[in-house]
Amino acid sequence: MTQDLFGELLPEPTRENLMEGAVVLRRFALAAAGQLLNDIQQVTAQAPFRHMKTPSGHTMSVAMSCCGEQGWVTDSRGYRYQSEDPASGHPWPAMPESFRNLAGEAAAAGGFAGFETDACLINRYQPGAKMGLHQDKDEQDFSQPIVSVSLGLPVVFQFGGLKRNERPLRVPLAHGDVVVWGGPARLRYHGVLTLKAGGHPLTGACRYNLTFRRAR
Ligand code: SIN
Ligand code: FE2
Repeated sequence: MTQDLFGELLPEPTRENLMEGAVVLRRFALAAAGQLLNDIQQVTAQAPFRHMKTPSGHTMSVAMSCCGEQGWVTDSRGYRYQSEDPASGHPWPAMPESFRNLAGEAAAAGGFAGFETDACLINRYQPGAKMGLHQDKDEQDFSQPIVSVSLGLPVVFQFGGLKRNERPLRVPLAHGDVVVWGGPARLRYHGVLTLKAGGHPLTGACRYNLTFRRAR
């Protein structure tokens, strides 16, 4: 057993291979969850959650914010990374130490030692929100993995193939679970099914996802 901030006993993380290059680290972020959630509040006080529009004009059901040197944005001009928050014109908030440490440790546990993230996308799902199958491909170096942290309400994650039409695996994700994918799995399609209503002791009626990347 490990302990959280308050000395509470927590079940040990376990690892589940999805396919070559992709692993679910169950409960890996459980001990850090309280700090991560505090830091989400700090970041989003500076760069508030917003519903961005896709290039085709569709408003995303997931609310997003970013921190780190680069932030991922979408609008009528397309998908991209940029160093300023378009809502304020200011640089994105600095990446909290808790985020950076967790990302590096999870990447190493997933087989990608030396991962140094420069971009964290913060997704907030409220009941009814979902994310369709997509590839993370706006980054410069696909030898760098993706580290994706789930906090709060559970959801079903879809992890598919290198083509959109391949039937995805359905992977239930709970509070504290971390998915790491890279190498031959780096460009696999993925998404999440519609969030169901519920209540979580730490996040209430919502799920947060932190997606760490090396953008540049
Ligand atoms: C994403 O692919 O950006 C989000 C995945 C998730 O919410 O688990
Ligand atoms: Fe993604």
